[in-house]
Amino acid sequence: MPIPSSPTPAPKKLYVKTYGCQMNVYDSERIEDAMRPLGYLSVASPDDADLMVLNTCHIREKAADKVYSELGRLNEIKQARLAAGGDAQIAVAGCVAQAEGPEMIRRQKGVDLVVGPQNYHRMPALLARAAAAGRSVVDTDFAVESKFEALPNRTAVGRGPSAFLTVQEGCDKFCTFCVVPYTRGGEMSRPAARILEEARRLGDEGVRELTLLGQNVNAYHGDGTDRADWGLARLIDGLSAVKGIARIRYMTSHPGDMDDALIAAHRDNPKVMPFLHLPVQSGSDRTLAAMNRKHTAADYLRIIERVRKARPDIALSTDIIVGFPGETEADFEATLALIGDVGYAMAYSFKYSPRPGTPAEGMADQIPEAVKTDRLARVHALLTSQHAAFNAACIGRTLDVLFEKKGRNPGQLIGRSPYLQSVHAEAPERLIGQIVPVAVVSCGLNSLGGTVAAS
Ligand code: 5AD
Ligand code: SF4
Repeated sequence: MPIPSSPTPAPKKLYVKTYGCQMNVYDSERIEDAMRPLGYLSVASPDDADLMVLNTCHIREKAADKVYSELGRLNEIKQARLAAGGDAQIAVAGCVAQAEGPEMIRRQKGVDLVVGPQNYHRMPALLARAAAAGRSVVDTDFAVESKFEALPNRTAVGRGPSAFLTVQEGCDKFCTFCVVPYTRGGEMSRPAARILEEARRLGDEGVRELTLLGQNVNAYHGDGTDRADWGLARLIDGLSAVKGIARIRYMTSHPGDMDDALIAAHRDNPKVMPFLHLPVQSGSDRTLAAMNRKHTAADYLRIIERVRKARPDIALSTDIIVGFPGETEADFEATLALIGDVGYAMAYSFKYSPRPGTPAEGMADQIPEAVKTDRLARVHALLTSQHAAFNAACIGRTLDVLFEKKGRNPGQLIGRSPYLQSVHAEAPERLIGQIVPVAVVSCGLNSLGGTVAAS
């Protein structure tokens, strides 16, 4: 007798556009995970998506304006679907959603859901509520229960051998230029047991490299599996024992939280990659004080010295802000001098731009745009020359590369060196997910080229 099949819902299409940092990339994956049990499959274009999600970032200039203009575009798609008798929903997630809250649905009526970074686990219920009630829903509370516990299990399938893993969120530092303490809330660390569980699952599914994420990742202090308080070094130690995990990275760190144990991990644990992103923001003590960074240029240089002593080949990266209120030419030159002293492998540089609600927004002595533009060009030129020199120095070396995916040219794979450089080489597809020695023969600004070395 034929068994009647239960009706399976037709798959629905989910389009997620991600702005900003790696934490948002991780969150977008978790949004996909949260929606998957409801039959949503990810698609690359909003054109016929049933649910369109913008996962927004508030760090960059005019972030909210850009989101509203993108929402206008998505709403046209939605209205066309509705006019054709179909349906579509729009959700805004991330830090702009958190900052704007109900204002978003006042300004863009097509938005069904505004959801803050702490509440993604509630998205299925919130979207259902919006659809049933025929009105928009806003949820930007800082949730009491942890979204991490409530989200479905993380899966690495289809996502490649290198995975992000958020271990910490939020920030208590209150740098005067930064919105993070307001949009992501105070520091919160996930319990080590949950992180290890997620890492084991990822390792079983073929992940070889973990990048531990947090706005202040080195301030991690979570409940350990032995009930002690674990810092990041102890957590990394635990993760190193997870089957399949061969490489560990972490970002972003604050200089004030670079403790001895973490520095020692760079010396003692071969799975900790020789790369450190340690934002300095400025080389002037006056500017650093106005930024409330809680360290001086000399403090920072001392940390770099200790890190280099532990791991002499470490590649260093940083964030620089130029044109912070009150920054004089001498202050700016101190930044150039610090960059010259450190010698970065790569770095990000930004013009200061006022963020609503932050202390620096109201500071006197805002710097004229033309001065910011000039300083950014100068700092950028210096950082680019350091970046090029670091890459050029790799020619002739053999580096271990974790191949992640196929390259643009047939027969080519792309992977990462220990120093986080992108490396391409002719290699068979079966090497994806493997760590392979590659002799570096060429370099551009954004990648190295090499040949797989016989091992
Ligand atoms: N203006 C310019 N750059 C900023 N950043 C954060 N807030 C601002 C701002 N208001 C930069 C910092 C930080 C990086 C993620 O973004 O350098 O480290
Ligand atoms: Fe923002 Fe980083 Fe400062 Fe925290 S430490 S306030 S996230 S810049």
